[in-house]
Amino acid sequence: MFDPSTLNRAAHIIRGVTPRLPADAVLRLELAANRNLSAAARSAVARAVFSYYRWLKWLRTHESIQLQVNDALDRQARYEREPLTTKIEALASRAVPDWLSGEVVLPPETLRLMQLEPVLWIRTRPGMRTQLGQELNDCELPAAWSQDAALAAEAKHALRYNGRRDLFTTGAFQRGAFEIQDIASQLVGHACAPRPGETWWDACAGEGGKSLHLADQMANRGTVWASDRSLRRLEQLKRRFARAQLFNTRIAPWENAESLPTQTLFDGILIDAPCSGVGTWQRNPHARWTTTPRDVAELAAVQARLLDQVSAQLKPGGRLIYAVCTLTRSETSAIADAFTQNHPDMIPDPVFAHSPSAQVFLWPHELRSNGMFIAAWRRQA
Ligand SMILES: C[S@@+](CC[C@H](N)C(=O)[O-])C[C@H]1O[C@@H](n2cnc3c(N)ncnc32)[C@H](O)[C@@H]1O
Repeated sequence: MFDPSTLNRAAHIIRGVTPRLPADAVLRLELAANRNLSAAARSAVARAVFSYYRWLKWLRTHESIQLQVNDALDRQARYEREPLTTKIEALASRAVPDWLSGEVVLPPETLRLMQLEPVLWIRTRPGMRTQLGQELNDCELPAAWSQDAALAAEAKHALRYNGRRDLFTTGAFQRGAFEIQDIASQLVGHACAPRPGETWWDACAGEGGKSLHLADQMANRGTVWASDRSLRRLEQLKRRFARAQLFNTRIAPWENAESLPTQTLFDGILIDAPCSGVGTWQRNPHARWTTTPRDVAELAAVQARLLDQVSAQLKPGGRLIYAVCTLTRSETSAIADAFTQNHPDMIPDPVFAHSPSAQVFLWPHELRSNGMFIAAWRRQA
């Protein structure tokens, strides 16, 4: 039996989940309300909650939630010891919802990875990776894990952190030396590859994870316009820019209304669009059971509209990047192909310098990352 207080706390969190309050949000609230819990206790509770949702379809629903969480933790530990004893067919039918097969057939390696705990990636400021790795300790370069050496080399600011410290409390974080950012998200920034002095628009900037990376690559020269429909997220973006001592940003609220936030023409535009988030299902397994095909269809319509609207603001010769942290066909290749068909002046462009592909799926097992889709175009000069 696992520690009863962990089981009770996890069960309390699971009972608090509602359609409007997903498991990761309830977990965050519970941990914020219990600041006296040790780091080990916090991570045990998080592991218990996420294990429950990872192994949900294997659990006996007539038992108490505590017993189900105990069973899930047991399965998690056994799987980590001997992953190959769970058949891939069982994972395909029980680790993800049935509707997913109509949208994407996940590679077996990705399915296997989804039942493991995710790893933690940090994005170091340009030129600081070696020094920061030594300062934080317990860090590894992406190449140590990657099945794709060229892709790992693209992620030249990434470090995997294997330690147990709360990184937010480190001096390096306080002085803005790194951000916590999944390596797949970092690769979106590298796909943009903005140059100092250019003008870029991050149209769905959220809390600014990727805007910061663009600004950093531009070495504080040029401008990054950051817009989003959420004012709360843009406020957080402002704070993050200040901590990173980056000042080349313009913030403009925008919700894909007809009128754009600016008349500026851009050298580059990034649309990191709202999506069903299938690529984050390892990190956030509860979403496997709440996301629906209807969400996928509705989000695909928003994505197509966003792409149409923002592309009008691109300079001739400018670069457009579309990214989503999902893997469904409707939100990825179908959106990109339809956009190419409807915009003859937008020419598919290699996403990364090392390969000619204008559409790239980042499968989670390749880099131990979130799943991501990236497409690129260049407006005819
Ligand atoms: C994938 S998140 C962006 C994450 C962000 N780029 C980052 O790296 O931190 C998508 C964002 O799109 C915003 N969004 C959703 N619908 C939108 C719309 N119709 N117009 C503009 N932004 C929208 C959401 O508020 C959310 O912040």
